[in-house]
Amino acid sequence: GMPKYVKIVEVGPRDGLQNEKNIVPTSVKVELVQKLVSCGLPVVEVTGFVSPKWVPQLSDAKDVMEAVKDLESARLPVLTPNMKGFEAAVAAGAKEVAVFASASESFSKSNINCSIEESLVRYRAVTSAAKKLSIPVRGYVSCAIGCPVEGEISPSKVAYVAKELHDMGCFEISLGDTIGVATPGSVVPMLEAVMAVVPVEKLAVHFHDTYGQSLSNILVSLQMGISTIDSSVAGLGGCPYAKGATGNVSTEDVVYMLNGLGIKTNVDIQKLLLAGEFISKYLDRPSGSKAAIALSRV
Ligand code: HMG
Ligand code: MG
Repeated sequence: GMPKYVKIVEVGPRDGLQNEKNIVPTSVKVELVQKLVSCGLPVVEVTGFVSPKWVPQLSDAKDVMEAVKDLESARLPVLTPNMKGFEAAVAAGAKEVAVFASASESFSKSNINCSIEESLVRYRAVTSAAKKLSIPVRGYVSCAIGCPVEGEISPSKVAYVAKELHDMGCFEISLGDTIGVATPGSVVPMLEAVMAVVPVEKLAVHFHDTYGQSLSNILVSLQMGISTIDSSVAGLGGCPYAKGATGNVSTEDVVYMLNGLGIKTNVDIQKLLLAGEFISKYLDRPSGSKAAIALSRV
C-alpha cells in the first residue's frame, strides 16, 4: 500500500544547477542549500566532486561543501564519480556521498567516460573506502527507462546494475529516468524487475519531467511501495550529457501532491516556495513548478 511518510531527496543544487550554462556564484549556491535545509527537507544533495573540465558549473564543489557542512537537520550528500572525487569530498567535510552508474553502455561512456563494468569497479573502491569511514553511499542507476542513444532500456539491465550497487554496500538505490521519457507503463515493469533483486525500502525514484509524466510516474511508484522520491526545487535541472532532457520533477509539485494524499513529508511548503522564488529570480526565469506558480497567485 501507499507509504505514510515519504522522504524527499532534494537534488536541485546539484542536478538542477549542473546544467546551467552561466556559472552561478558560490554564494548563491550556498544560500540555496541553506534555504532548502530550512524547509525541513531531510536530504539536500549539495554538489558533485566531478571533473571541472566535464562540468564547469560544479568546479566550486569544495567551497560550497565547506560553507554548508555544519548545517544540521539535513543530510548533505555529494556526487563522487571515483576515488579522487571521494577523497576531495571527505576533505571538504562531506558525511555522505553518491555514486552514479548507468543501465546504458552508451550513456556510461558519455557521462563518466568508462564502461558500466569499469564504473562498478571504481564504485567498489569508493564504497569500501567509505565503509572504513562509516560514510553512507547512495547509488544511482541512470537511464533506468531510456537512453538518449540506445532508446528503450530493458528492465533486466536496470535490475542488474541496481543489484550490483546494493551488493557493494549502497544503502539506497535511486532509479533515474535521466531523459524523462518514462510513463507509468514503463515504470511498473522496471520497478517489478528491480524489486525482485533489491528490497523496496532501499529504492528511490528520480524522474525528469521532459514529457510531463513525473507525477503519474511517482504515483504508481508510491502504489508499489516506494517511499523515497528525488526532486528539484522549481524543477531546475537537466543532465549536461543528456541533450534535450529537462529538469527534475519539481519539489513543490511533489509536496503538493503528497499533502493531497495525506502523506507526511515534514516539508514546509511556504518556505519551499521562497527557496524556489529565490533561485528562479536569480536565474531570471519563471519557476518550473506549476504548484509554485499557482500558489504564488493565491
Ligand atoms: P576522465 O576524463 O575519464 O578522467 O573523466 P581521468 O581519470 O582520465 O582524469 C582526467 C582529468 O580529470 C585529470 O586531470 C584528473 O585529475 C581529473 P588532469 O590531469 O587532466 O588535469 N579528475 C577529476 N577532477 C576533479 N574531480 C574528480 C576527478 N576525476 C578525475 N572526481 C570523470 C572521468 C568520471 C571524472 C568525468 O567523466 C566526470 O567528472 N564525469 C561526471 C559527469 C557528471 O557530473 N554528470 C552529471 C551527473 S550524472 C546525472 O546527472 C544523472 C543523475 O542525476 C541520475 C539521473 O538523472 O538518472 C545522477
Ligand atoms: Mg538526474
